[in-house]
Amino acid sequence: MSRSPSVYDLVQSHRITAVIYAAAKLNLAEAIGGEAKSVAELARLVCADESALRRLLVALTTLGLCTQATGDRFGITDLGRELDQTADPSFKDWVLFESEMLAQSWSGLVDSVRSGKSAAELRGDGDDRYAATSNAPEWTSRFNAAMVSLTRSLVPKIVAAHDFTAARAIIDVGGGTGELISGLVQRNAHLDGVVFDLARCEADARAHFVRVGLADRCRFVAGNFFEAIPGGADTILMKSILHNWKDDRCKIILQNCYDALPTAGTLIVIERIMPEHFKAEDAGCALSDLNMLRGPGGRERTEAEYRTLVVSAGFSFVVTAGVGSFSLLKFTKSGA
Ligand SMILES: C[S@@+](CC[C@H](N)C(=O)[O-])C[C@H]1O[C@@H](n2cnc3c(N)ncnc32)[C@H](O)[C@@H]1O
Repeated sequence: MSRSPSVYDLVQSHRITAVIYAAAKLNLAEAIGGEAKSVAELARLVCADESALRRLLVALTTLGLCTQATGDRFGITDLGRELDQTADPSFKDWVLFESEMLAQSWSGLVDSVRSGKSAAELRGDGDDRYAATSNAPEWTSRFNAAMVSLTRSLVPKIVAAHDFTAARAIIDVGGGTGELISGLVQRNAHLDGVVFDLARCEADARAHFVRVGLADRCRFVAGNFFEAIPGGADTILMKSILHNWKDDRCKIILQNCYDALPTAGTLIVIERIMPEHFKAEDAGCALSDLNMLRGPGGRERTEAEYRTLVVSAGFSFVVTAGVGSFSLLKFTKSGA
């Protein structure tokens, strides 16, 4: 009979993160592949101590990531397959980012709760985490890869939630290395796409467009969304942008979106929506909210808060649709 966890159980959650990280770092999912293998063979493949690896495989089995087969062999479950770099979906890059970057930063959460400030603000690095990491290429590439893994898993849901037939030219503001725009353009033959982001995303975005065969229909434009957003698109997308920032900064981005769009242009905001009343299953959103507090200094918002914020920049609200654990909010630019 299962029992509810005690605080003693809950506080050990970091051990689960470490177990999953160890499996990812050892490339265990890739080594197991399609059929169960003996511990001895796996130990050879991932260069690990056989007895210690067996203990890790047992822990992974209790977490539902591996299965134990006869003859002391271990296989991988569908959940465990998400640690394989080549799987779809794969969250391996998120696991590496969470374990190597976020876990370290989260250890200072108490300071952020006491002060209301992000880690960068507490270090005296200002209120723009992205500017503060401009000289940290390793952080940026881990972060970008993690965002790709999350966004890639949402693209089919975004396409199912919104009909892009009426759009012609889309700009993904803060679109990173182009995962979302390429996914939309690939599934909508009539669309052309632009990613607008900081110059540090440019090389990876261009390489991505070439890799997926869309270099003729997807472009990267470097710039700063607090200064200006290029015009020419009828639809602006922003996924996981507004939650990074406090309201005053969001209003500048939204004003620049408004200025970039033609009348009747579309603004699509994709974010996690904070519920008005919390239940245990809302933990993911609540923890993401604290991640915003500690990380970029923003916040997760309720649907009403997003609507108020975006409408204050001159847009009219159209509709909200579910996109997995995210929501898609559609607005239009009503008129000058
Ligand atoms: C949380 S990530 C979201 C990336 C992408 N939209 C996605 O969901 O996968 C935030 C993005 O905003 C970009 N960004 C941050 N500050 C920016 C600025 N001032 N101007 C343009 N882009 C910026 C970052 O480089 C990063 O790619």
